[in-house]
Amino acid sequence: MRPALNLCTVRDAAARDAERIVQLHARELEREIGLDRVRRCVSAYPSVAAEMDGRLVGFAYGDAFAPDIVRLANLLVASDLRGLGLGQRMLGAFEMSARPSYGAVILVNSLLYPAPEKRTAVPFYERAGYRQLFETEASAVLAKTLR
Ligand SMILES: CC(C)(COP(=O)(O)OP(=O)(O)OC[C@H]1O[C@@H](n2cnc3c(N)ncnc32)[C@H](O)[C@@H]1OP(=O)(O)O)[C@@H](O)C(=O)NCCC(=O)NCCS
Repeated sequence: MRPALNLCTVRDAAARDAERIVQLHARELEREIGLDRVRRCVSAYPSVAAEMDGRLVGFAYGDAFAPDIVRLANLLVASDLRGLGLGQRMLGAFEMSARPSYGAVILVNSLLYPAPEKRTAVPFYERAGYRQLFETEASAVLAKTLR
């Protein structure tokens, strides 16, 4: 049976979520991200945590790009919950939390980061209104204005 996403809570992330974010990232992408950096990003920039039954099932956080442009540094949904709309819901929540302070979101999607599954997320972002600004053979830079 497919999990019911209406049981999933999407909220702003906080420093207390940082450890579970690092753990989820390591489990899903088989590589470490720095705990201090995650703590700093979720505290200082727009960020989102998705929880279901007390389990962290997704996150998004930003970091610096320009005073009025936030970089979406990381967005991840647990693999057993992908394809159900949670990624779009979290992206929308990230944009909503960015809107008061930033005029645009920029991000890079690259197939060169080590990951168990190599799949471009460009169509996922284009569906949410992002425009591709630049591409190389393996990476794409996308952006969306928020106002
Ligand atoms: C990209 C990602 C956040 C999407 O989350 P999601 O909850 O599956 O997204 P939604 O259900 O809202 O949308 C589904 C769409 O996401 C994209 N998608 C699904 N799985 C994906 C994957 N493993 N990698 C990249 N994109 C994926 C597809 O465009 C899919 O559309 P389709 O079902 O028509 O093929 C999720 O797949 C993920 O965490 N991937 C690994 C990490 C990653 O690539 N993050 C983006 C870094 S820039």
